[in-house]
Amino acid sequence: MIPIVWIHGYPHSSAIFEPQLEMEGYRHICPDLRGFGKTPPPAGPMTMSDYAGDVFAVMDAEQVDRAVIAGVSMGGYIAMEMYRLAPQRFLAMILLDTRETPDDDAGRAARMQAIETIKTQGPKTITDAMLPKMILSPERQEKGRAILESATPEGMIAALHAMANRPDSTETLRGVTVPAHILVGDRDTITPPSDSERMKTLMQDAELAPIARAAHLANYERPQQVNHILEAWLARKLEA
Ligand code: MLT
Repeated sequence: MIPIVWIHGYPHSSAIFEPQLEMEGYRHICPDLRGFGKTPPPAGPMTMSDYAGDVFAVMDAEQVDRAVIAGVSMGGYIAMEMYRLAPQRFLAMILLDTRETPDDDAGRAARMQAIETIKTQGPKTITDAMLPKMILSPERQEKGRAILESATPEGMIAALHAMANRPDSTETLRGVTVPAHILVGDRDTITPPSDSERMKTLMQDAELAPIARAAHLANYERPQQVNHILEAWLARKLEA
């Protein structure tokens, strides 16, 4: 079975991929990053390369040399870092609601402000503000809230440091030689469709699908559309 490694974003956990587990015929590997889901928090700030090393370690433990590597948002930043470090481990790349560019000064300042808020008021102020940008539909929002609120403050702070200091992945995407699929919620305001359109122009073999009536967590909010698109693409690219 072809393995797919699903890398979640901030402040989520592997639970956001529950709907993707319904894609039959694949071996789904869904790690929880440090400080999220079931994985204990790190001792201090993280980098994208630390997270990439953690995901490679999970692949090693599962005895998976090569996989389809899929990342949502911060998970996409990690997938790009993984490609920089070890492109030979990719069968294909899936980028969901993410972008290749680093934070600008205002973006970095907002990360530092979020760290301060978590330290002084706790993470709920941040997760309450993020939830409506992640998921549009009220029913899904209620389940999603529990996922966001399961993040530890230490894990969130470490991820904010990693995202603030992440490198530019423009050249990395230009060099990607495996097939890639980009998906984005048409109402994503965190990494809007224009980011995905730009990523597509950089890549040699990338397809792009906007997901209708979805915000930042398109895979969670519109799983049928997303799974259908990915199943058809994977069958065409990897199983032909
Ligand atoms: C995420 O969903 O991983 C984050 O919102 C990404 C970001 O803040 O850049």
